[in-house]
Amino acid sequence: MVWVFLLFLSVLKKCIENKMRVSPKCYQSIAKMLDFYSQFNPSPLSIKKFIDFGLNASEKKSFIFLRKELPVRLANIMKEIALLPENLLRMPSVIAVNDWYMRSFQEIIEFEKREPNDDTLEHFCSELVKIRNRHTNVVETMAQGVLELKESHDVDHHTEHSIQYFLDRFYMSRISIRMLINQHTLLFGGQLENAPGPNRSKYIGCIDTQCNIISVIKDAYENARFLCDQYYLASPDLIIEVSQHNQLEKEQNVNIVYVPSHLYHMLFELFKNSMRAVMEYHCEVDQYPAITITVAKGKEDICLKMSDRGGGIPRSTTDHLFKYMYSTAPQPSKSDAHTVPLAGYGYGLPISRLYARYFHGDLVLLSCEGHGTDAVIYMKALSNEANELLPIFNKTTSKFYRTAVPTGDWSNQAAHIGDRQISTKIKNHHLPQSCKESMTGAI
Ligand SMILES: Nc1ncnc2c1ncn2[C@@H]1O[C@H](COP(=O)(O)OP(=O)(O)OP(=O)(O)O)[C@@H](O)[C@H]1O
Ligand SMILES: [Mg+2]
Repeated sequence: MVWVFLLFLSVLKKCIENKMRVSPKCYQSIAKMLDFYSQFNPSPLSIKKFIDFGLNASEKKSFIFLRKELPVRLANIMKEIALLPENLLRMPSVIAVNDWYMRSFQEIIEFEKREPNDDTLEHFCSELVKIRNRHTNVVETMAQGVLELKESHDVDHHTEHSIQYFLDRFYMSRISIRMLINQHTLLFGGQLENAPGPNRSKYIGCIDTQCNIISVIKDAYENARFLCDQYYLASPDLIIEVSQHNQLEKEQNVNIVYVPSHLYHMLFELFKNSMRAVMEYHCEVDQYPAITITVAKGKEDICLKMSDRGGGIPRSTTDHLFKYMYSTAPQPSKSDAHTVPLAGYGYGLPISRLYARYFHGDLVLLSCEGHGTDAVIYMKALSNEANELLPIFNKTTSKFYRTAVPTGDWSNQAAHIGDRQISTKIKNHHLPQSCKESMTGAI
């Protein structure tokens, strides 16, 4: 009986999936449009431009900009999806992601020749909301696709390298597309009118013009600490130091014009990592050294340095920290599917670095094995220098996917790592709900 019911469910699922899938005929006509739009380079915007646009531009102007810019950004990355290794493209999760992109691209180009009247503008806004919702689970679905590949095939070094290269560009593109959609829907979709009083004036879309760095730090710390307490029944304290040499900001509060959810995401991930390291390294003595954050605002950069005394990372593994799915934490088990893990998917650092780089900042780690780790988030202090960093599809990109990884021209290059990698050995692994929540974050 149960067996028949399960069979019925799987047939139903297939039917729904097939119905939602873009038909082959449709693919052909979309392919032409993809060729067309991918000829253009995306137009990166600075935070200042986002703000000026938000303050002065009309909904019509934003619509006219986005109906070209969104398909351009989508087409640039969709062309790259097409260059992925054949066997990865055949994985069910990758097919699903590809389909979402096709569908969304198609929906936006329908506005190409529309008259920008009130009806069109309203429809456009609601389509953007629909697209944003459709793409909510892209990060974990793509991650799932890579897992499916690793479970069913032997992945060689070149494929691994291409996937890493692709994921960085793909997730960065996604951050940028969501940024554009969020700005438009927040500014013109009436959502900001519902924001609480003081926030209305501070925010231009999702940009906080007076983002209080200290309060974002405290927020991220408290939430990571909550998880840490759940796992280890204790957590390290936090010390915040605002650089004494900081001549520019006399007060304790340091403000920046930034997207607070991006900053929060980076800090939350770094706190989780530092807390885990500290708790694991000092478990015998039962005394946990505090995590220190130093905040420094210079003329060009704002730097947040998080220092922990969690025993550090051996130099032989530092090259792998920003690789997707590199983790030394045990795989969160399926039975923990409804709790958020402190670590285990190996997405924390690479995605956080993308957020930092998105507006031409960076995220670097410096570690001393046997002592601890410093993680530094760099952000541009000036909003006109905080330009979007976007992947561009061109001949160099295509060449990258086709050429083999260059062979080493120094001795002793084959650094081998004994990490726990999510690999072919883990059969039938699915990313659970908790992973989806921790990965989705602000994007
Ligand atoms: N402050 C730190 N001290 C020691 N090791 C660290 C620190 N930060 C990161 N690491 C190492 O880098 C690895 C990768 O970190 P990353 O945040 O990308 O993934 P994760 O924490 O394992 O999983 P998640 O995706 O849940 O964050 C960690 O598993 C850990 O081994
Ligand atoms: Mg982590």
